[in-house]
Amino acid sequence: MLGLQSCLSLRKRPGLSFFSKVMACKPTLDTSPPVHRWMDTTLQRDAFKKTIPVLAARVPASKTGSLLKSDVMRKSLMDLPKVRSVLRDPHDDLQRLVLLNVSEDVALLPEVRDFLQEQSATLVVHNLNLTYDYWTADEILHSILPEELCKGSPSGFAITGHLAHMNLNKEYLPYKHIIGQIVLDKNPMIKTVVNKLDSIDTKYRFFKMELLAGEPNYVVEHHESNCRFTFDFTHVYWNSRLHTEHDRLVQLFQPTDVVADVFAGVGPFAIPAAKKGCAVFANDLNPESAKYLSQNIIDNKVTGLVRASCEDGRDFIKEVIGRVRDHPFPAYTGPKLSKMQEKEKRRLQLAKSSTTATVELVDQSAVENQSSRQTISHFVMNLPDSAINFLDAFRGILLESERDFGNYANMPMIHCHCFTRELQPERAEADIIQRVESKLGHKVDTEVALHMVRSVAPNKDMYCISFRLPRDVAFAQ
Ligand SMILES: C[S@@+](CC[C@H](N)C(=O)[O-])C[C@H]1O[C@@H](n2cnc3c(N)ncnc32)[C@H](O)[C@@H]1O
Repeated sequence: MLGLQSCLSLRKRPGLSFFSKVMACKPTLDTSPPVHRWMDTTLQRDAFKKTIPVLAARVPASKTGSLLKSDVMRKSLMDLPKVRSVLRDPHDDLQRLVLLNVSEDVALLPEVRDFLQEQSATLVVHNLNLTYDYWTADEILHSILPEELCKGSPSGFAITGHLAHMNLNKEYLPYKHIIGQIVLDKNPMIKTVVNKLDSIDTKYRFFKMELLAGEPNYVVEHHESNCRFTFDFTHVYWNSRLHTEHDRLVQLFQPTDVVADVFAGVGPFAIPAAKKGCAVFANDLNPESAKYLSQNIIDNKVTGLVRASCEDGRDFIKEVIGRVRDHPFPAYTGPKLSKMQEKEKRRLQLAKSSTTATVELVDQSAVENQSSRQTISHFVMNLPDSAINFLDAFRGILLESERDFGNYANMPMIHCHCFTRELQPERAEADIIQRVESKLGHKVDTEVALHMVRSVAPNKDMYCISFRLPRDVAFAQ
C-alpha cells in the first residue's frame, strides 16, 4: 500500500519563494482518479490505480499523540477518507510515520516546519497507492463518462430490499452496465441493480425493468413502518417514495376503525394499519399482489385483523359493506401486549376476581357481538390513474337493506388518490373536486381535504382527496 521512497533532511528555510508560499496555503495532494474515457461497456477496475508521493513526519511512537493533537499541525495532517494517517515505519518498529497533506517539503508551512524540528521529526516521502476501492461511485463514473455527460450523470437510485433501481436517461444507456456495476460495487447491501424501462404494466401498474448488474433475483424483502414486505418486483406494484403517504393515512386511522383498502397492492397501508389495531379488508385485482399480500399478513402476524381478497375494485366496494356486517371483526381490545405484559395482566385479573364477593354472570358472546366492528370507517383508493372512475360504485352501497345498515351513524371517509395536470394548488383542487363530484353525481362538502402527495412528472402531480361519503350517495337509488 504505502512505500517508503526517500528520506529528506529537515532544514530550516529562512525565506520561501512566492510559489512555495502559495503552495503552503493549500494541500497539494491530487487524489482525483485517473481518467479512462475509453471504457464503455466493461468496467476494468484494475485501471483505477494511482500512486501519490506523500510527505510524512517520522517520529518516535511516543510522540505521535503530540503531533496529532497539536494546533500547529492540524491543518497540515493528511485527512483522506479510508486512508490511515499514522503508520508503523517499515524500517523501525519504534518509529511512526504521520502522513501530511503535501507531497514536497517546500509546501510545508514555516510554523509546521519549526514544530516538527522541535519534535526531532525527520521528513520522508511515502508512496500512497490508491485503487478502485478508494474512489466514490461518482468519482469513478466521472472519470469514465464523456465529459459532456458528467454534469447530471445518474447518481441516484431507489432501494427496495436488496434491489437498486435506476431511471437512466437515454444518453447514459451505452454505459448502463458499467453504471450498474459501480452502484453494485459501492453499496454492499445491494445485490441487484435494474433500470426502469419506460413501459409500465397498464393494468397492474408495475414497471418493466432490465438487469444492469448483480443477481437476477427480483423477490425482495423490504422494510417499511416496522413491517416486513416480501414481493416479486417484476410482477407487483411497489413505490418506496410513497412511504410518507402510507404513514400519513395510517396515522389518520383510529385503532378501533375498520379500513377497506380497494387497491391494496402487497399491503403498505393495510398491514401497518392492522399493526396499530385496525381491522382491514385488503383487496387487489393482481393475483400476484394478492399472493404476496397474504404472505405479508402472515409474516407480520396480523392474520386475525386483515382479510385479503382478489377482485375488481368496483365489486369490492359494493360487497365489503355487507361482508363486515355479516362477519364482523372482534372489538379492539387495546394495544398488543408483550408476553410479560400479558402475564402481569392475567395476574392482576386473577387477584381481582379472587377478592370479588359476587361474580357477575354475563353472556360473553353477547358482549363481543355488541362491541364487534361492523361498519367501515375508511376507504383507501390508491390507484391514481383511475381511482376517481370507481367512485360511482359508492352510489347506493347502503341501500340494499337500509334497516341493516342503520348502524352507520357516520358515513365512511374516502381517501382517493389521483393525478392532475393543474400544477397551481387552487386549480388542482378545483379540477379534482369537479371530477370527483361528476363521478359521484353529488357535491362533496363534508370534511373535504386535499393533500399533495408528490410531483410525478414536470407537468403532473399526485394528490389524495379525502372526504366523507355523502349520505345521499350511499343511499342513492
Ligand atoms: C398504485 S398501486 C397501489 C398499491 C398500494 N396501495 C401501494 O400504495 O403501494 C395500485 C394497485 O391497484 C391494483 N389494481 C389495478 N386495477 C385494479 C382493479 N380494477 N381492482 C383492484 N385492484 C386493481 C394494482 O394491481 C396495484 O397493485
